[in-house]
Amino acid sequence: MIGLSARALVTAARRAGLAALALDLFADMDTLRLAAKSVTLRRGRGLTIEAADLLDQLARHIGPDTPVVLSSGFEHRPRLVERLASRFSLMGSDARTLRLLKQPRAFAELLAELDIPHPRLFEREAPAGVPALAKRVGGAGGQHIRPARRVSGRQRYLQERLPGRAVSALFLGDRRSARLIGFSEQWCDPAPGVPFRYGGAAGPIQLEPPMEHAIAAALERVTNAAGIAGLASADLIVDGSRWHLIEINPRPGASLDVFDHPPLPPLLRLHLEACAGHLPAPPAALPPPRAAGLLYAPVPFTLGAEPLPEWVADCPPQGAAFRAGDPVCTVFATGDSAGQARSAAQDRARALMSRLICADGAAG
Ligand SMILES: Nc1ncnc2c1ncn2[C@@H]1O[C@H](COP(=O)(O)OP(=O)(O)O)[C@@H](O)[C@H]1O
Ligand SMILES: [Mg+2]
Repeated sequence: MIGLSARALVTAARRAGLAALALDLFADMDTLRLAAKSVTLRRGRGLTIEAADLLDQLARHIGPDTPVVLSSGFEHRPRLVERLASRFSLMGSDARTLRLLKQPRAFAELLAELDIPHPRLFEREAPAGVPALAKRVGGAGGQHIRPARRVSGRQRYLQERLPGRAVSALFLGDRRSARLIGFSEQWCDPAPGVPFRYGGAAGPIQLEPPMEHAIAAALERVTNAAGIAGLASADLIVDGSRWHLIEINPRPGASLDVFDHPPLPPLLRLHLEACAGHLPAPPAALPPPRAAGLLYAPVPFTLGAEPLPEWVADCPPQGAAFRAGDPVCTVFATGDSAGQARSAAQDRARALMSRLICADGAAG
């Protein structure tokens, strides 16, 4: 299980009855507890995994037949994924899929060919009167997105800004066909300079049946064209009866926290089966509403000795130091609806943050 954070994957492995080796940058307390073994990877520039260190650690800990599952941190690194696939049993989307989905221009062309609604891309400057967003190629977590009229540089691009709410579809691919699992809604947690910073996800939610069918059909086409293998999520903007596909993350991700619960079977097992070419029957029922929100440090602080509540995941060790804007942990909540679960998670996050800062102030 490899990712910037492997916690969600390791949790899913536990639920699937698998002993997991976790390789990530954080080695959070719950990752240590849930994994058979945890390795902290060396951090490259920014929030990236250092390729040489990863390959060394894998060679040290596993053989060529151990299934390897990737989550975040590989979207913009198809060459590293190629090297991993040549030496280990990679279970998931391959480098070709990443090149098709994670290069904005190739992706927009693919969606146009497949007749899937998507936002327009603009060269250098947005036409007068059309709102637009500047994004970074390979960016994630929303922190790279800002309103803009023009962009420069190869790593940034300009995309039409669409009205509507952010929805994500969780699905499985067997490289040819797709099986939709469910929808969740995303929210942003803006801070100065980062209006689209990822806040969290809540689900399941339901869309109008014709829209769900149209989206499922679109995922079928894009899975077949790009060869998506295993769990993946598609980010959409939904506005009334209109929808647009803005991004596909062809890997297990944050939706695991929302969907990997009974009555669904363990999703990591479905992931491995889908990679082996077997898609499950459509789910007969989805889990009850649940939300997972990311908590960011509003000011610098150090984590005290008081244990974190049991509804927190990605628990950093005692004494961990955070700068303003650093992610601290993930907060879970349930509710009668996805909206209520989201409000409950946001309330918990706010209360927890003031307690942590207050405890740090009292200690310092
Ligand atoms: N074209 C767009 N129009 C309107 N909102 C957008 C658009 N693109 C992104 N967003 C907003 O930013 C969030 C993250 O966008 P996404 O493209 O998924 O970036 P990331 O790769 O960082 O997750 C979306 O959930 C949505 O709220
Ligand atoms: Mg996204």
